[in-house]
Amino acid sequence: MQKELEKIENEAVEAIEAANSKETLDSLRAKYLGRKSVFNSFFSRFADLPPAQRAEYGRRLNSLKAKITALIAQKEQTFASAVQKTLDLTLPGEKINTGSIHPISLMSQKICSIFEKVGFEIVEGKEIEDEWTNFQALNIPLNHPSRDAFDTFYLELANDKKYRYLLRSHTSPSQIHTLLKLRPPLAVISPGRVYRPDATDASHSFMFHQIEGLAVGKDINFGHLKQVLLLFARGIFGEDVRLRFRPHFFPFTEPSAEVDLQCLICKGKGCSVCSQSGWLEILGCGMVHPQVLRNCHINPRKYRGFAFGMGVERIAMLQYKINDIRLFFENDIRFLEQFYEI
Ligand code: PHE
Repeated sequence: MQKELEKIENEAVEAIEAANSKETLDSLRAKYLGRKSVFNSFFSRFADLPPAQRAEYGRRLNSLKAKITALIAQKEQTFASAVQKTLDLTLPGEKINTGSIHPISLMSQKICSIFEKVGFEIVEGKEIEDEWTNFQALNIPLNHPSRDAFDTFYLELANDKKYRYLLRSHTSPSQIHTLLKLRPPLAVISPGRVYRPDATDASHSFMFHQIEGLAVGKDINFGHLKQVLLLFARGIFGEDVRLRFRPHFFPFTEPSAEVDLQCLICKGKGCSVCSQSGWLEILGCGMVHPQVLRNCHINPRKYRGFAFGMGVERIAMLQYKINDIRLFFENDIRFLEQFYEI
């Protein structure tokens, strides 16, 4: 029995010494100290011994068990300190990727916040409109070229009304929703997606973003429109921007204008970005047409307003010097992650 114990002792010491993983150590612990361990079988042999030897045998067993327990604990310590060595708590933590804001959302937010500061309220329009809201109510007659099916995505939705559904081709129908819902004086800004069946190229996309502005009140005049747009252009492009208002035609504003920004690259001298003209077109605007007010049950003799609509992609492209609109929609993370300012 003495011999057997010695053999077990040597075996155990060697095995614990050689253990190189926590798992091996765990299985050794089970083998030597667990319920079905080698030792337990020795403990059950007490009855076979002459009473005089029992005490001595018991001491021997207990001290061996204590020794093995200590050895295993010791070995376990060396594993723990090895882990501590590789885990340096003083190192800076790993950066969590929080993503970034899409440049179009970023530009939209920036533009809207400029208008919010001077009292415009942000309202949401609808991406699915009917012909009345997208066209008729805005004084765009049936025979207007943009009514052509080629310029608008029509939807085949079950509809018992007189007017077909479509994907809005501009944000101007949100003017109608606003005029039908709010009473003047009012000033709203309405950002969102618009759709036109254009072939995609470096400057066209079948889906893009616009921001619509509308202010209606008793004494609103063209001067207010100019000042508000100047405020916006300065806020986005810097204090020294110059704007040019060029007469234009829109069915829903009268008079109407297109607004050009003095070219940011050549400062008006003429370069390839502005096609040598010195100016870049950025938006359409004008005084709300009396018929639009009438269509929304507002008396044009009492109230006037101004409206404007701008393309967000175009403004973001000018501001961030991006030369292809497709970059916004291709989802290339290397492009998108460059825009993180808020
Ligand atoms: N809706 C016009 C467009 O998409 C822009 C515009 C809005 C013009 C409001 C005048 C007033 O081109």
